[in-house]
Amino acid sequence: MWNTAITRTYGVDYPFIGAGMAMIAEPQLVAAVSLAGGIGQLGTGPLPPPLLRGLIREVRGRTSRPFAVNLIVETTTLGPATTDDHISVCAEERVPIAVFFWNPPLERWVAMLRETGCRVWVTVGSAAETLEVLPLDPDAIIVQGREAGGHVRATESLLDLLPRISSLAADRPLIAAGGIADGHAAAAAFTAGASAVCVGTRLVASEESAAHMEYKMRLVASEPRDSIVTTLFGPEWPDAPMRVLINNAVRRALAPPAEQAPAPSTIGETTVFGRQYAMPLNSSILPTVHTHGDFDEMCLAAGAGLSFVRKIEPAAAIVREIMDGAARQLHERRQRDQLRSP
Ligand SMILES: Cc1cc2nc3c(=O)[nH]c(=O)nc-3n(C[C@H](O)[C@H](O)[C@H](O)COP(=O)(O)O)c2cc1C
Repeated sequence: MWNTAITRTYGVDYPFIGAGMAMIAEPQLVAAVSLAGGIGQLGTGPLPPPLLRGLIREVRGRTSRPFAVNLIVETTTLGPATTDDHISVCAEERVPIAVFFWNPPLERWVAMLRETGCRVWVTVGSAAETLEVLPLDPDAIIVQGREAGGHVRATESLLDLLPRISSLAADRPLIAAGGIADGHAAAAAFTAGASAVCVGTRLVASEESAAHMEYKMRLVASEPRDSIVTTLFGPEWPDAPMRVLINNAVRRALAPPAEQAPAPSTIGETTVFGRQYAMPLNSSILPTVHTHGDFDEMCLAAGAGLSFVRKIEPAAAIVREIMDGAARQLHERRQRDQLRSP
């Protein structure tokens, strides 16, 4: 039986949060994580607000358990990812938890959400970002370490960040994100002060994720050292570092200019954020079930815990394996420590 600030406050079995991955964490995955006893998190991005409302209702249609909605605070070439209208939708739909990512949310957004009883979490990747968000009085802080898949601003590892952010955050619950793909990594995060873990890459390779099968299979076939942080991807969201799988696009960018093979101008077609989209070279749009094209040119976000992505399996199995593994680790450690004490 898990008993942390997160399981107590939200009435869930496991202190396990599904990462809010735009394009990938759609209602089916969100509900699967919540039904397994964790907290699923809906990925969004620059979606038309009515589409966001539809997705939230779809999650509700699949589960009555707590879930979160991820809101990216940034303007992309496809539009601003979070606006007053997105916040109004979340407030009207009485979303249980809103998670802000990348930049701090506006104060009025936090106030609007809180009026409906919504809890507000923010993601940080450094002590400086933590100091910036504390005046908003977040209900929990997601600490994202350098190991994380997808957009990541941290320059330090998760286990270096956790104790430092813990000393700034007073008694606010911390949620650890980045490279957590097995029970050992989760147990280390709990030992370093986390009240929950947030898992992305393992869930990309779940049966319920909206990732394209080729993307899932490349994750499964990858080796531990196959991810890298780069700003290569993203005419849609420039200069934002991302941890991705190393493929042709990344290898070409790493090669000396004289040895670089010619690059294509478009790499595929997809439907994303409610529109048809021709993916330009180095697009940061992730391949989903709606995507066709050259996967060796696409952005395949992936964290550093790749050695534990070994098969495509139901999200519930991933939640249970990581949580049961962590519980075993923590139990064995407690027993060892008791034996050692005088
Ligand atoms: C495919 C993918 C897409 C992501 N998209 C988002 C996003 O839209 N919003 C967000 O807050 N974090 C996003 N992230 C980062 C996750 O929230 C989380 O920090 C990360 O997945 C944790 O590391 P892990 O992938 O090693 O488990 C994404 C991660 C991945 C792998």
